[in-house]
Amino acid sequence: MSTGLAPEVAEFLELLDRSVREGTFTRLTLGKPRGGDDATLQNVYVRPVRLKSGPHLSFLWRHDTRDLTKNVAPEDGVIEVGRLVGAIFHSAHLFIGPRTVQLEFNKKGEPRLTFGKDAKTAPGASDTAHDRTKARLLPAASQDWLHALGVTNSAGVVREGMADKHRQIHKFVELLHHLVASATLPHGRPLEIADMGCGKGYLTFATHDYFDRVAKLSVRVCGVELRPELVEQCNRLAQETGREKLSFVRGTIQEATIPAPDVLIALHACDTATDDAIARGLAAGSALIVTAPCCQKELRPQLRAAPVLAPALRHGIFQERHAEFATDALRALLLEWAGYETKVFEFISTEHTAKNLMIAATKRSHAEDEPARERRASAIREFAEFYGVKTQALAQHLEFALAK
Ligand SMILES: C[S@@+](CC[C@H](N)C(=O)[O-])C[C@H]1O[C@@H](n2cnc3c(N)ncnc32)[C@H](O)[C@@H]1O
Repeated sequence: MSTGLAPEVAEFLELLDRSVREGTFTRLTLGKPRGGDDATLQNVYVRPVRLKSGPHLSFLWRHDTRDLTKNVAPEDGVIEVGRLVGAIFHSAHLFIGPRTVQLEFNKKGEPRLTFGKDAKTAPGASDTAHDRTKARLLPAASQDWLHALGVTNSAGVVREGMADKHRQIHKFVELLHHLVASATLPHGRPLEIADMGCGKGYLTFATHDYFDRVAKLSVRVCGVELRPELVEQCNRLAQETGREKLSFVRGTIQEATIPAPDVLIALHACDTATDDAIARGLAAGSALIVTAPCCQKELRPQLRAAPVLAPALRHGIFQERHAEFATDALRALLLEWAGYETKVFEFISTEHTAKNLMIAATKRSHAEDEPARERRASAIREFAEFYGVKTQALAQHLEFALAK
């Protein structure tokens, strides 16, 4: 998958991309315009800005008589710079903290990369693998699969249209890092990790690299997926990139033959597939269960709302949210009854909605006494009764009678 970029340009863009992601980017100046379509364009100045919606790059387009400012998402900004260097501007000056990197094109359009004082030791230039893993939760080595799965180009720059996926992958690893710290994982043997309904494997590869190469734990990671072509593609990539502890199995979440997972992940497994995954984690006594449910359809026909809600629930989207809430709240309550502490929070999804829920459950070290469990069971039954829910997939898996 060649982008046709000269190595100097690729390295420059990689430095820019990495410094933006690591928060060390200070500013960038583009100059020496080639005088293309817009003869009035003089320079472009780029600097990091923090908006309410998060970090952005601010582009100031300087023309003869006017300035135009535009703020863009960091990943889109790096792509934009890639479009401008060489084609529109013959000079680019990058400032990473006190260090500078300069990309110049001669009259023949040949690039030359020069480093100011200390620039070669700028983050991402020649820092050691150890330093990089400290700063980032995905190692630079993840670049091979990010590239092969089409998230980044050969220069390590996020491809157009893949910024959301890239952000989701990094956000997931960050969450995993925190969740693992709060779980009691077994010692003295390799950790078994399963990603149920792993799709194209982005998050499975990320999980493997986080545990194996960043946390440096002995792990075996297994992706489970119904679609054989995805399983084959992922296994080939794992083998080609030397990830011996990562494999993919064709099968269903309920029945695939895999080792009992210590960490079970199921992200965007539709409707009751999430319940099947949770039930498998519970049966295995997984230390950590991480799910991001979606398409909560099962309870819709059963849901009974208080009359006061009826006018609002004429709207389909409110019905949908109502069903999502009832389903996921019930799942969290059942997990707590089954001996787990739960955390429910928002996670980025690129598949269905802009954002959705993550339910993360860590196994308690001590079982609760019978009266405490009975109080939890009663609360679940009252909740189910309030919503008119008589059956739910996870409750069925657990043989938990929702009706009193
Ligand atoms: C929406 S994708 C999510 C992929 C990945 N987990 C992610 O979040 O990026 C759901 C995947 O789960 C698979 N899937 C759905 N139901 C399944 C089941 N019962 N057993 C195994 N895989 C299933 C689908 O084929 C699909 O690839």
